[in-house]
Amino acid sequence: MSLSLSAGRPELGALDVPLLVVALSAGARVEGPLAQLDTTLGGALSRTLDRRDFRAGRDETLHLSGASTGPKRVLLLGLGKPTDRTAAIRRAGAIAARQGAKMGAGELALYAGSLSAADVEAAVVGLSAGAWEYTDTKTPPPAEDRRAPLTAARILADDDAALQSGIASGSAIAEGHGLARTLGMMPGNLCTPDFLADTGRDIARRHGMKVTVLGRAEMEQLGMGSFLCVAQGTPQDPKLIALEYNGGAQGAAPVVLVGKGLCFDSGGISIKPAQGMEWMKFDMCGAAGVLGAMEAIARLGLKVNVVGLVGSTTNMPSGTAVKPGDVVKSMSGKFIEIINTDAEGRLVLADVLAYARRYKPAAVVDAATLTGACVIALGHTATGVMGNNAELVQEVIKAGTRAGEPGWELPMWDDFKELIKSDVADVKNSGGRPAGTITAALFLKEFADEYPWVHLDVAGTAYTESDLGTVPRGPTGIPVGTFVEVARGRAG
Ligand code: BES
Ligand code: MN
Ligand code: ZN
Repeated sequence: MSLSLSAGRPELGALDVPLLVVALSAGARVEGPLAQLDTTLGGALSRTLDRRDFRAGRDETLHLSGASTGPKRVLLLGLGKPTDRTAAIRRAGAIAARQGAKMGAGELALYAGSLSAADVEAAVVGLSAGAWEYTDTKTPPPAEDRRAPLTAARILADDDAALQSGIASGSAIAEGHGLARTLGMMPGNLCTPDFLADTGRDIARRHGMKVTVLGRAEMEQLGMGSFLCVAQGTPQDPKLIALEYNGGAQGAAPVVLVGKGLCFDSGGISIKPAQGMEWMKFDMCGAAGVLGAMEAIARLGLKVNVVGLVGSTTNMPSGTAVKPGDVVKSMSGKFIEIINTDAEGRLVLADVLAYARRYKPAAVVDAATLTGACVIALGHTATGVMGNNAELVQEVIKAGTRAGEPGWELPMWDDFKELIKSDVADVKNSGGRPAGTITAALFLKEFADEYPWVHLDVAGTAYTESDLGTVPRGPTGIPVGTFVEVARGRAG
């Protein structure tokens, strides 16, 4: 269930709401709307700040009980001393909604001072992220133990135009994030290549996009030996899903978004250790990012042409599975030596990137949970960014920054290519552990040679193994925001 959003005037003392969240920067004073709230609370707000019980440090919270009139509860939430206020508001929105859900408030109002349209959008994205939950496969607790889920949020500010526009755009983006997170959280036996294809068809139907779904037979016709060698160990039909959104001028070169959609990655014959293998249901988060972004871009009605491509299958060991030492021929004509069947994402993407040529793209951006090495290099904080075009790399990094999804560039020097030279084929699919994120990207570059291209390694950022405060354990919604910002930055 998505959060219902509305706008309201910042008459903080007079609000009839179960929870009012007041986001404050360090050093904030009790003036304007806050003075009215302070009066209702009998001076509790100014006393709290005077005593320095609450210092508005980043993520700091303090819960005050309401008075006999006005808001029933007040949560003070610190923004710290933000360098990027919009980002701080997005973060505050997420924390506010999670706290509201924990309290069983049902509804909250958020006040964070005066807001631009971008601030309101960020607040909505944050609130929706904080309210998001995956409950499909959990039996609900008995009614008497149940807390009211957070179903509504009101954003309080004076600027009506900013509120209306920010709520509309924020809700569109939040819908995309929510879809990506739900797909990510779904267990691998439910979120299958077939299910992703159905999700793509559903997006296309609701927004009037063209959708094409290729299965094993169609991919054989196209000579996709690289993609198909990953799929040969599973009886599930692999899917290449293509969504075409035409918001821009007819015939204008599109932005193509590409996502790795491994609904489960066991490693195949080069099987992974059992410990933590369940996390590999998240190996389709790049694909979820593409589908979520297409949903958001269509809801935003961006005036730009965008193609979303998803390559989806499951990497399984079996008697028919591809083996180390095998050589396959990709759609591009290049031969690939399989060194490690666990380096499967790049094999799927090689053929999807070659398939992307048919759209004569203005730019291609792929996202993939591609390498464990990226988690080692950049942790869960930054997405690895690499590409064949310096300007596009900067454009994508800036888009990520605007979306609150930081990325960091890694070098794509030719020196690293030595690591993926093969004795029997044009390239091998693994260069071993050294520079693992870079050699994976250099492998992809072999197939992305006809257009400006950027690769996002979201192995560390698309999901989190620990609670981040803003989001719980599980998918984060990254890279939906980055994709949307790239498209928005190119929209007319
Ligand atoms: N899906 C994994 C990468 C991954 C690992 C994502 C951990 C998130 C967390 C990918 O398919 C993989 O297995 N990569 C190998 C490559 C190696 C065999 C060259 C890896 O990172 O170990
Ligand atoms: Mn793998
Ligand atoms: Zn994988």
